Amino acid sequence: MRTQVAIVGAGPAGLFLGHLLRQAGIDAVVLERRDRAYVEGRVRAGVLEQVTVDLMDRLDLGRRMHREGLVHTGTNIAADGELFRIDMAALTGGASVMVYGQQEVMKDLFDAAEPRGVKVIFDAEDVALHDIDSAKPHVTWRKDGVEQRLDCDVIAGCDGFHGVTRAAIPAGVLKTFERVYPFGWLGVLADVPPCDHELIYCNHERGFALASMRSPTRSRYYLQCGLDEKIEDWSDDRFWDELCLRLGDEAAGRVTRGPSFEKSIAPLRSFVGEPMRHGRLFLAGDAAHIVPPTGAKGMNLAVSDVVMLAEALSEYFLDGSEAGLDGYSARALARVWKAERFSWWFTGLTHRFPDRDGFDRKIQVAELDYIRGSRAAQVTLAENYVGLPLV
Ligand code: APR
Ligand code: PHB
Repeated sequence: MRTQVAIVGAGPAGLFLGHLLRQAGIDAVVLERRDRAYVEGRVRAGVLEQVTVDLMDRLDLGRRMHREGLVHTGTNIAADGELFRIDMAALTGGASVMVYGQQEVMKDLFDAAEPRGVKVIFDAEDVALHDIDSAKPHVTWRKDGVEQRLDCDVIAGCDGFHGVTRAAIPAGVLKTFERVYPFGWLGVLADVPPCDHELIYCNHERGFALASMRSPTRSRYYLQCGLDEKIEDWSDDRFWDELCLRLGDEAAGRVTRGPSFEKSIAPLRSFVGEPMRHGRLFLAGDAAHIVPPTGAKGMNLAVSDVVMLAEALSEYFLDGSEAGLDGYSARALARVWKAERFSWWFTGLTHRFPDRDGFDRKIQVAELDYIRGSRAAQVTLAENYVGLPLV
């Protein structure tokens, strides 16, 4: 088999790239280790920046999103129970975000893949990269016990944080930067109306909480928890009690309790691997970088990476110029690091750090109070939250 671009991984990065290349008339094959149900079933964040909304539209995939998604022009912060609103639209000249679950985005991408000729091979085991330093790289894998080989010009590593593509970059070349946080997020999905029509990011003495949603009838809530905590110890009752405590009386009074149908604990991490290119291998999305979920930048960063990568690949395959490919890593990393900074800062502002003392807590409270009273601080928060421009 031969193609122009071998894409490893069919998460948001790999599938968006597959669609972008298809639209540009560039031949690509997506290799995915798992099956569609697994990839689509993973519960992730659900806040789309304008960059992501624009891409859905550009690919003519935005119809259901505009019908079912919720446009949010503001977001809320609660500091020890007292709420204030960040009017994102007023602070940014009209920008907003779209609340639409990553699972829905994936469904739209998969549904359109086959009819449009985006080739996805599922259940590809033991994907391995070969000759990435040469002009003729290839990829091998096993499917149904049979060895397969794909020759290509370029490999796109879209296989997430635990994938194989980043590991193909020699250790002496790849520089990694990492921060692991001493807590996780316990997330719950429940078919109950959300407690607010917008999100509430909540800093409380007992730890962070987030009130989010998937629709007017489905709520998504999170609680900061210890990394050693067990799901079994969190009954629904305990979860709702703790959530209401942290949200404070005003929002807690509007919480509708109900049975959860998904409950999971995820660790928080900041990570960047540089450069995002080695030879004919180009990394995009979680394969290159991870952000903590505070601010919901994960999928949006995967999208900005692949928009830039698709532009570079179009220049290469359609115009014969390598300039875009040469500039890809630096261009992508400039935006990635700003989102890393924002996600790290927003995490620091809103979480309880077990290893920090009373002084740190006072500084946190002072910063929240400053943001509440300062338009300048709110503009900074809002322009990062809605997403920085693609430059
Ligand atoms: N071979 C083939 N596919 C692989 C391999 C492998 N060795 N390893 C991982 N994969 C697949 C995974 O099964 C997954 O479907 O690559 C895909 C990577 O998808 P994500 O982890 O979602 O990463 P990405 O597409 O970069 O999306 C980033 O979306 O899922 C969220 O938290 C993530 O918000 C972040 C954003
Ligand atoms: C979510 O709805 O899952 C969500 C929303 C906002 C975040 C993180 C997660 O910052």
